Amino acid sequence: MKNISSITKQLNDKLIEIRKELHQYPEISEQEYETTRRIKQWLSEAGCTIIPINTKTGTVAEISGKKQGPTVAFRADIDALPIQEQTGLPFSSKNESVFHGCGHDWHTTIALGAAMVFSQIRDQFAGNVRFIFQPAEETTQGAKTLIDSGLFQDGKIKGIFGLHNQPAIPAGKVGITEHHLMAAVDTLHITIRGKSGHGAIPHQNIDAVVAGSAVVMGLQTAVSRNIDPFEPVVITIGSFHSGSAHNVIAGSAELWGTIRSFSPNVRKQLPELIQRITTEIAEGYGAEAKAEIIPQVPAIQNDPVMTSIVREATQSVLGKDAVVTPEPTMGGEDFSLYQEHIPGCYFWVGTGDSEKGIDKPWHDPAFLVNDDLIPSTVNLVVEILLKSLKHFQTKEKGE
Ligand code: NI
Repeated sequence: MKNISSITKQLNDKLIEIRKELHQYPEISEQEYETTRRIKQWLSEAGCTIIPINTKTGTVAEISGKKQGPTVAFRADIDALPIQEQTGLPFSSKNESVFHGCGHDWHTTIALGAAMVFSQIRDQFAGNVRFIFQPAEETTQGAKTLIDSGLFQDGKIKGIFGLHNQPAIPAGKVGITEHHLMAAVDTLHITIRGKSGHGAIPHQNIDAVVAGSAVVMGLQTAVSRNIDPFEPVVITIGSFHSGSAHNVIAGSAELWGTIRSFSPNVRKQLPELIQRITTEIAEGYGAEAKAEIIPQVPAIQNDPVMTSIVREATQSVLGKDAVVTPEPTMGGEDFSLYQEHIPGCYFWVGTGDSEKGIDKPWHDPAFLVNDDLIPSTVNLVVEILLKSLKHFQTKEKGE
């Protein structure tokens, strides 16, 4: 039996080199061509099988154990952000205005490390592990692309796991919960039609700016008066475009916003409510309005059994006190789309360390991750996948 920690230790220098290379050459969502090429190279060098999947970027690899058994998966996101890096790191981004400001280079490294470990312990497990290197997480398009390209088509993947670094949680701790973690995201598009005319004769025209403003305010109260106060919802109108001259009443307005929620039931209720409030308020001003809700991703819904596997693995790799209950966020994460197909658990690995300056939130131009945690996180991912293989193996036998 090979000891997993000692394999990871041997891999550590190589993994740190990989992380730095990924960091220096970040690519934004759907443009991860070079990143994908390098990931495939590293995987092939490690003896992993690349599973053909028809997407522009991203890849899936498989490592099979000596004995047959179930298949489980780990997903890492690989894309960067259109931000100019301000970390001052010696291996800062060489790509102008593109930056791994969310640590997806770190996630990719962890997945590669775990894949390398599995390729060295084939005689120590039954079944298969798949590593999903997902493009375009930042635009919430990547998971959908992979699923549409047949990720689950062969029906083999029984359980899926994914992680994110979390500077708000101290290094050495892992945030795990089967309750709210990350929200459902939907896009809101509102168009308002009034009647344009001279700014001095409002009574002969229909002011789309005034009607639109009333709609924005109405939507805020709509949530507080119609949705269970124990169910958080955010409606943010981030863009309001109307009018072209200071002395002309605007005849139309276009608004874009984002809707965040946790409960699937509340998410279902929201379109009808928003449409009603929007059209009726606008009508009160004599204007016509239309609200369209464009679904993006559901909320993270962690499976209780998969979550208990992550919890047990964390305690055995990082210690009894390593598990903490995370503060949820209204941010979204397209890992939830996988959870619509198979049970999964998405969790946060604490990277916070103010002495090392690792305290900036995701997407901050000076955002940092913690390379010292690469080996322990690789060990954690390997342990989670081994435990889940055993779980599904016992389940298969029982059936
Ligand atoms: Ni991220």
